[in-house]
Amino acid sequence: MKVTVTGGASFIGSHLVEKLLEKGHSIKVIDNLSSGSQENLKGILKDIELIVLDLRVASPVQIAKIISGSDILYHLAADHGGRGYVELKQTDCSNSLAIDNNVFMACIYGDVRKVIYASSGCVYPLDMQNDTDQMLYLNEDDIGPPYEPDGIYGLAKLAGELTLKVMYEEHQLESTCCRFFTVYGPRGKENHAIMSFIARAFIQRNPFEIWGDGTQIRNWTYVDDIVNGLLVNLKGHQALNIGTTERTRVIDAVQMTLNVVNKHYYKGEYNPEILLQRDMPVGPLNRVADNSKLLNLNGIPLMNINLGIERTVDWYFKTKDKEYIEKNLDRLLIARQ
Ligand SMILES: NC(=O)c1ccc[n+]([C@@H]2O[C@H](COP(=O)([O-])OP(=O)(O)OC[C@H]3O[C@@H](n4cnc5c(N)ncnc54)[C@H](O)[C@@H]3O)[C@@H](O)[C@H]2O)c1
Repeated sequence: MKVTVTGGASFIGSHLVEKLLEKGHSIKVIDNLSSGSQENLKGILKDIELIVLDLRVASPVQIAKIISGSDILYHLAADHGGRGYVELKQTDCSNSLAIDNNVFMACIYGDVRKVIYASSGCVYPLDMQNDTDQMLYLNEDDIGPPYEPDGIYGLAKLAGELTLKVMYEEHQLESTCCRFFTVYGPRGKENHAIMSFIARAFIQRNPFEIWGDGTQIRNWTYVDDIVNGLLVNLKGHQALNIGTTERTRVIDAVQMTLNVVNKHYYKGEYNPEILLQRDMPVGPLNRVADNSKLLNLNGIPLMNINLGIERTVDWYFKTKDKEYIEKNLDRLLIARQ
């Protein structure tokens, strides 16, 4: 098949492109490289067509000319970062409203019949996610109304989903809204929690800072599981959670990271003092997916967080430069690049 991937130079996008290539598809990537990079596509650049284009300002007609003839369009391009970015840079996050609209209109003009949209757990009402004692599993039907997405970033993802719904009803443009839950893995950025813990451990930061009181619960999901979910083939317009059901507190994920780095690199000698930074952005207190729909569809077990952290630590420690991370970590915790 002919497949276009917007945002294909990103952390998740580059893993998806590799998998699609393995399956023999012909791939076009559209990306402005604002947070994605050619480095992420190293090794496969010669096998794909990379179009460097800013999807905020390109017109739907211009984009339609590029994507016309694609059997499927994966739409991952977004103005997105980690928790610090999506709370402190909401004006920037509003760019995704323009990006999504341009790309979806282009699908109609270019007669592309199917969109797989990178949505997020951020579409679910915040009000549901505040009680850490509740065994909450967010189900695909839980988004509302009433709607209460997570900031402008979540609002843009929700607007994207609702736009795709009406585009299916009015123009028969098929779409799957894949709601990713806090993703980590090789090529992940320090602006996301697990990657920030690994980065702190890499430079043996002491004290070791944690945003909030550490009791926030997440279901960290390994990037390969996200890619497997993106390959599920659904008809019509549907939503699909892609996330594990493992409930892990931030403080426990930190401890797992410290255990892994001590086991493989520091011989048990790195035991930093934990410093809780309660004034930093923390997001909802309890966010975990119900993934029964995904498991019924593809039956592939998801990565256990301990093993996922072990693999990600291995990648990080082998590829990163200590001096650079020491100098830049405070900026990288919030920035997109
Ligand atoms: N990482 C997560 O935990 C997570 C969770 C939920 C959803 N998502 C979504 O998954 C997708 C990929 O995210 P990611 O974490 O891999 O990295 P990312 O945020 O870096 O990916 C966004 C990609 O879009 C590109 N882009 C941004 N603005 C653009 C523009 N104006 N024109 C063209 N390209 C543009 C960037 O260069 C980058 O390659 C995003 O849509 C993100 O919102 C990610």
